[in-house]
Amino acid sequence: MPLVNMSDLLWRAKEGRYAVGSFSVANMEMVKGILRAVEETESPAIIQIAEVRLKNSPIELIGPLMVAAAENSEMPVAVHFDHGKTVEKITQALDIGFSSVMFDGSHLPFEENMMQCAEIAVTAAQYGADIECEIGCVGGSEDGSEDIAVNCSDPAQAAEFCEKVEMDALAVAIGNAHGNYKEEPKLRFDILEKIRDSVEVPLVLHGGTGISEEDFRKCIELGICKINIATATFDSVEKAVRDAYAESRIKGYYDLQTAEEEGAYQNAMKHIKIFGCAGKAYDD
Ligand code: 13P
Repeated sequence: MPLVNMSDLLWRAKEGRYAVGSFSVANMEMVKGILRAVEETESPAIIQIAEVRLKNSPIELIGPLMVAAAENSEMPVAVHFDHGKTVEKITQALDIGFSSVMFDGSHLPFEENMMQCAEIAVTAAQYGADIECEIGCVGGSEDGSEDIAVNCSDPAQAAEFCEKVEMDALAVAIGNAHGNYKEEPKLRFDILEKIRDSVEVPLVLHGGTGISEEDFRKCIELGICKINIATATFDSVEKAVRDAYAESRIKGYYDLQTAEEEGAYQNAMKHIKIFGCAGKAYDD
């Protein structure tokens, strides 16, 4: 199964009423662990990296690895550039072969966000790639460096955005935030329902870490087709390594690598089951 476009996966998810996990990765062990879970469960999946993470995992190194992993997978896997901030890095991701990019203009005034998304959409289309946009503002920040306040999406603006900009996925802000939640998230399902009723495009939920199983299922019922998971993977990898040391299972470097992979695998398995995408790799 070759590397696929994200939109193929998301339209099928919308029709089938499940969500595709979009898992952030930082190294080869995470990619391998996640794709093992994907193969075992016969799921579609997206692997992604955000622009702010490139200082730790340079795109010229991790990008080709992600693309090769997707190309070598037996399952349909899209490779996504998450929270793209600059045209330079978005173009670099497209040159490497990412099959979709997000332009994060959530901090910009509405008109400016639309204008810049429209420009990036043209560039992405030249590569045959997809584009994700964001409306409103998801809280926190992808790498924890800022504590951005949640600004819930306006359903009327979402409709206008989708009318004016040709996009493949729209990220919504409904009380969700990046990173570990300081208190239990209270998602605005009323807003999500209104957005679902006013746009056709598949919807994306960022800030998946810490959202309850019940809330995930409700979001999926209300039109969420892609769910981003980052912190939960990093935490799971770290915990797997700590446990392995505590249980004296790490005797050398390769045991450490095995523990990292296992942490990413366990976390992906857990989310794939909740999202309902297990067994959906070939659902035509
Ligand atoms: P979490 O770190 O909360 O899982 O958020 C991930 C995300 O939305 C990446 O774009």
